[in-house]
Amino acid sequence: GGASRPADGHPRPPAEPLAPGDVFIAVKTTKKFHRARLDLLLETWISRHKEMTFIFTDGEDEALARHMGNVVNTNCSAAHSRQALSCKMAVEYDHFIESGRKWFCHVDDDNYVNLRALLRLLASYPHTQDVYIGKPSLDRPIQATERVSENKVRPVHFWFATGGAGFCISRGLALKMSPWASGGHFMSTAERIRLPDDCTIGYIVEALLGVPLIRSGLFHSHLENLQQVPTSELHEQVTLSYGMFENKRNAVHVKGPFSVEADPSRFRSIHCHLYPDTPWCPRTAIF
Ligand SMILES: *[C@@H]1O[C@H](CO)[C@@H](O)[C@H](O)[C@H]1NC(C)=O
Repeated sequence: GGASRPADGHPRPPAEPLAPGDVFIAVKTTKKFHRARLDLLLETWISRHKEMTFIFTDGEDEALARHMGNVVNTNCSAAHSRQALSCKMAVEYDHFIESGRKWFCHVDDDNYVNLRALLRLLASYPHTQDVYIGKPSLDRPIQATERVSENKVRPVHFWFATGGAGFCISRGLALKMSPWASGGHFMSTAERIRLPDDCTIGYIVEALLGVPLIRSGLFHSHLENLQQVPTSELHEQVTLSYGMFENKRNAVHVKGPFSVEADPSRFRSIHCHLYPDTPWCPRTAIF
């Protein structure tokens, strides 16, 4: 304890060496998006370190299972409801604890994970200490009402990392979360504040355990203007995304090698930018 922490979550000198097998990346998806979203991730960032990545979904898919060993059918509802999302997070948490790995990271199926940048960031913190790192979605703590008992409520406020940008939790902290997160407790905790899964993580970590979120500008969701991510700093970003924002198509601005029509998410172009040795990347590409 007592170690000083940077507020911006930028990588510092390594605290401990970290191998890909030390990190557990949970990708939350739904069967409807296996072809539309997941295949793109499998072709790009997931292909680099399949052993790091676990897919959490809600339906059987033989084609996916053939391609990827680590597919978990959560048996959670495919609805985009608060309960269904919390159900998946609960399964992710339990699988992480079971895995014995040092770091838990959660991302969505519209996130590109820059694995080198992620390992660099996490290696700068000791996994045995309390680390919760990501990007807050609001510019102030969220205000919630905590149901303490049958007929007692009280206001709580806390910061949380937006799930759409991805976030990471050290094993040391994850173990402390167990009374509120393990074996189905996560869903009852989420019901206590009636907020989505990512808010519930913030509630457990900040409000119940008193551990502050480390804010990082290296995580990105589709709810921010992704055009503002400088191409020259692509190597440092931990997560990226694509989608719609303020009724406009939102994606990272990166020149080539694929056109916006051929690669609307820009993930293939980003991948070739980060890993030019990828067999399907054009050899003559000029970045
Ligand atoms: C989902 O259901 C199947 C079939 O009953 C079971 O084998 C599997 O373990 C369940 N998955 C989870 C995460 O509970």
